[in-house]
Amino acid sequence: MSVLIWIANLLRVLVLGAAAGGGFPQWNSNSDACNRARKGDVASQTQSSIAVTANGRNWYLCNASPDIRQQLNNNPALYPREGMRHSPVSGVVLTNADVDHIAGLLTLRESQPLNIFATKRVLTTLKKNSIFDVLNPDFVSRNEIFLGHPFVPKTPEGISLDLEFEAFSVPGKIALYLEDESADSNFGTVEGDTVGLRIANQLTGQYFFYIPGCASMPKQLAKRISGAPLVFFDGTLYEDAEMITRKEGHKTGNRMGHMSMSGPDGVIVALKELNITRKIFIHINNTNPVLLEDSRERKIVERADWEIAYDGMEISIEKPPE
Ligand code: MLT
Ligand code: MN
Repeated sequence: MSVLIWIANLLRVLVLGAAAGGGFPQWNSNSDACNRARKGDVASQTQSSIAVTANGRNWYLCNASPDIRQQLNNNPALYPREGMRHSPVSGVVLTNADVDHIAGLLTLRESQPLNIFATKRVLTTLKKNSIFDVLNPDFVSRNEIFLGHPFVPKTPEGISLDLEFEAFSVPGKIALYLEDESADSNFGTVEGDTVGLRIANQLTGQYFFYIPGCASMPKQLAKRISGAPLVFFDGTLYEDAEMITRKEGHKTGNRMGHMSMSGPDGVIVALKELNITRKIFIHINNTNPVLLEDSRERKIVERADWEIAYDGMEISIEKPPE
């Protein structure tokens, strides 16, 4: 009896991929860091995704990365269990239409029942790209998320999972391949292009935030996440200009729609006084020195009370006190 109650009272997160688009190492990067990852001198990280469960059996993915096949094979909790065709993955909630967050949907074909949840903006992108029709609508439903309206996704068979999601708008940028140079200063970005998620066990109230892409920290967002037991936050770059100074790109983090970790406008300063129990950087670009455990930047970030996500990281969120 007590075991059953314990199982029902959980909220568990599995980091499937801690890296940003490109992964670590990135296929065409000849940087020292990527070469160290190739040699196994530092841990490789796959692209941006987490899995969550509130019952220990059925999981929802937040984002579907191009590395999803490897991620599903790396995590026994996500292996098929019943009959000849089965998956503990009941569906996917998308936070934007970036390649690193949607390309993995293509791997989830094979007539497997699934529910996909996304904003209208992201669903429109899926609809416009007919390759996603490999997800046969007889098996895969596409469901619209409404900002600020919590939703409780089920298994494709209609069974409740006790997981509750709420999506909220965060500052960001439209996906790279959708940028409209002739539009406004933010390339045609509108609300719904980038969202953060509040994920909860509907029965117990345990919750955390997942915000893998965020361009700035308006007061309203700071207020929303303050006091949270756990926040996964955009850790793309350590310094805004690092891709340029390292000669590995020509864009700043700001241009790409990402706050950086360091600096007066950075994430560490912005979240310092928000009384968040556990802060974890995720969606970390391969140019970011925090991926190297022996780097100066890694020590600075850890001293500031931040953790760095890694593939296979598993977290159980504590039940709030009665
Ligand atoms: C981003 O997070 O900025 C994008 O995933 C970049 C990309 O499309 O490669
Ligand atoms: Mn990305």
